[in-house]
Amino acid sequence: MPKMTNQQKYRLIGQAEPGELRQLAEQAASSIWRQQYHIQPHVGLLNDPNGFAYHNGEYHLFYQWFPLGTDHGMKYWYHLTSRDLAHWQDAGIGLEPGGRYDSHGAYSGSGIVKDGQLHLMYTGNVRDEAWTRHPYQCLAIMDDNGTLTKRELPVITEVPQGYTEHYRDPKVWKNGDSYWCVIGAQREGLTGAAVLYRSPDLLHWEFEGELKTSLPSFGYMWECPDYFELEGMGVLLLCPQGLEPEGDERQNIYSSGYLLGSPLDLGTREFQHGAFAELDRGFDFYAPQTTEGPQGQRLLVGWMGLPDLEYPTDNQGWAHCLTLPRELSIQGGQLRQRPAAGLESLRGESLSLTTRLSSERQRWAEAQGTAYELRLNLSSWQEAHGTGTFGVEFRVGEQEHTRLSYEPGTGRVTLDRSLSGAPVNPAYGTTRSCVLNPSNRQQLELRVFVDVSSVEIFVGDGEEVFTARIFPDPSSTGIALFADQGSADFDVSFWPYPTGAIPRELPEHIIEDGKVKS
Ligand code: FRU
Repeated sequence: MPKMTNQQKYRLIGQAEPGELRQLAEQAASSIWRQQYHIQPHVGLLNDPNGFAYHNGEYHLFYQWFPLGTDHGMKYWYHLTSRDLAHWQDAGIGLEPGGRYDSHGAYSGSGIVKDGQLHLMYTGNVRDEAWTRHPYQCLAIMDDNGTLTKRELPVITEVPQGYTEHYRDPKVWKNGDSYWCVIGAQREGLTGAAVLYRSPDLLHWEFEGELKTSLPSFGYMWECPDYFELEGMGVLLLCPQGLEPEGDERQNIYSSGYLLGSPLDLGTREFQHGAFAELDRGFDFYAPQTTEGPQGQRLLVGWMGLPDLEYPTDNQGWAHCLTLPRELSIQGGQLRQRPAAGLESLRGESLSLTTRLSSERQRWAEAQGTAYELRLNLSSWQEAHGTGTFGVEFRVGEQEHTRLSYEPGTGRVTLDRSLSGAPVNPAYGTTRSCVLNPSNRQQLELRVFVDVSSVEIFVGDGEEVFTARIFPDPSSTGIALFADQGSADFDVSFWPYPTGAIPRELPEHIIEDGKVKS
């Protein structure tokens, strides 16, 4: 695919050639890798989740959307709603860029409910004639019909001294009578940071200064910071760019992780925290955003993709999807992530299997598909020479499979996509691993969510998660269990997931003329 020029990339839908969007949408719809229950763009490129909020009995979730290609171009916010975090309704275009303060994209931001209305704070991306970037922090308010109206002027117009034009992704919360937001920043010395602002009303913001962490030089830019408190602790999510790989960690082009510590001191901006830990151990995870649900639960959604990489659907009119929503908790000084409870409503009729395998591989003939949940409990392992490996292969075909394995001797869990199908950025490796802590456990539970072109694996009740896109042939539908060099008990359940959980077609009024609402 020839790369688009900037002129082509920074067009609004209304500036597309006649039939261009429809043609792209038709191409996307016929892709063999369209997801069945993950939020994906009808057409074009999806990236960060934005504006995630619970309001009037519904979750609102937006995503960064470039409609006219699979490069990163003119970014819109596309809007969906849900009551259970499993079934999603299309709410059409949320924010359209192209104004004076977002002429080159409505970049990432967050949502908060104030005076009964959802307020969205986001970065307006502007490029001048010399193609220099000017970020503005903007505000939009949603009315009762779901229509968003942007404030005419940005609420933060300046980048304070000491920072470059990489200054974006406001994440807002309320504490006491004040609103606070963190913004991802790059210092003039080309190191990443998160800065803090305070406001009485979401309109007038005071620059407080930088968050004081113990990572003064940690990558060249921090994107998408998110701060919240959970179970009495402070949690800062950040996406540092420019970290070197370290053992099993930081293997992806850019990282996404968290710092866990004492609650942030809003007066001094001191944040006392432990080591940076990755949120996800897979290949494709970035720019997560959290919100608080109606029961006070902390929910997270991520982008199942990364910037600056190529993916096999790039020449099929669409790219990327969001992760399933996860619910966060803290245990043993670590974040735990479990699939959001509402997802169980997607389960179809279950199949189950209990077996003991000894140095063998067994196909599970009854259970197969391209969209399902699999729960695997491994126990009572005995290793032949201290090196047993146990696990499951899914999307198994004649030549293909994706393999998830556990080595009790070392505590190592590995996801291998070297034979998954169409290669995805093999220069960044084809396996991802982590070592579970502590490793002397007696059993291990794995919850595996397979969709047409992705897998998410929750290890040991949310201790670790592996997220990956995979691009197998549609005929690779098999599941196999294996025990290498040892024996173990396998207790497995399988639930097919239905179609219909996500909207399937781009609303006609958008295709027709790029209208924001019908
Ligand atoms: C992260 C990011 C954000 C930015 C947005 C633009 O993926 O680069 O920092 O706001 O994407 O789409």
